[in-house]
Amino acid sequence: MTEILIERPEHGAAVEALFDEVFGPGRFAKTAERLREGNQRLQNCSFVAFKPDGFAGAVRQWPIDIGGAPAVLLGPIAIAPRWKDNGVGAKLMQSAIDSARENGHSGILLVGDLAYYGRFGFACEPHRFTLPGPVDPLRVLFLPLHARFLPLRGALKHPDSSINAAMDRPLRA
Ligand SMILES: CC(C)(COP(=O)(O)OP(=O)(O)OC[C@H]1O[C@@H](n2cnc3c(N)ncnc32)[C@H](O)[C@@H]1OP(=O)(O)O)[C@@H](O)C(=O)NCCC(=O)NCCS
Repeated sequence: MTEILIERPEHGAAVEALFDEVFGPGRFAKTAERLREGNQRLQNCSFVAFKPDGFAGAVRQWPIDIGGAPAVLLGPIAIAPRWKDNGVGAKLMQSAIDSARENGHSGILLVGDLAYYGRFGFACEPHRFTLPGPVDPLRVLFLPLHARFLPLRGALKHPDSSINAAMDRPLRA
């Protein structure tokens, strides 16, 4: 049995510890992190998984802007190593997708392996979206949630325009 719950503040420490364990300190250097820094995760669209022996995994989602339309960035997602390949990731992904759709979001973008996320309907969109930093184009995956947003394309932006302005400024050595 797997219990899926909306992430609450009291889950935060376990979620952060799992992300640290699975991704290491490099997780904060990822391009996607530029869209998460200073952002507020979507409270109703971020989930934790519990097995009878305790915490088993988590997925977070964030508001972003794509070409002027509100959309969702999914990630990180991680499963506790002892519970990998037991369907926990699939349950978290389905909750994340269903909640984003129910909350009226246009689509979900993530950076990950098509070999895993393709089963949930994600497709590789290497030329359609621009991220605020380097990324393997074959790992840029998108799932449209509503037909009217099918033409969505363009630059991924932070929902806070002052943070976007800072990201647009060239970095100094
Ligand atoms: C990737 C991850 C979230 C998948 O969750 P999970 O609960 O282990 O996976 P599920 O039980 O839902 O699915 C298992 C299946 O997915 C496959 N799979 C898992 N990770 C995969 C990957 N990166 N690429 C391709 N297939 C993958 C498994 O081989 C298994 O295949 P099968 O159904 O043919 O046996 C989890 O393994 C994890 O936390 N990995 C480390 C962190 C990570 O890579 N996060 C994603 C960053 S983009």
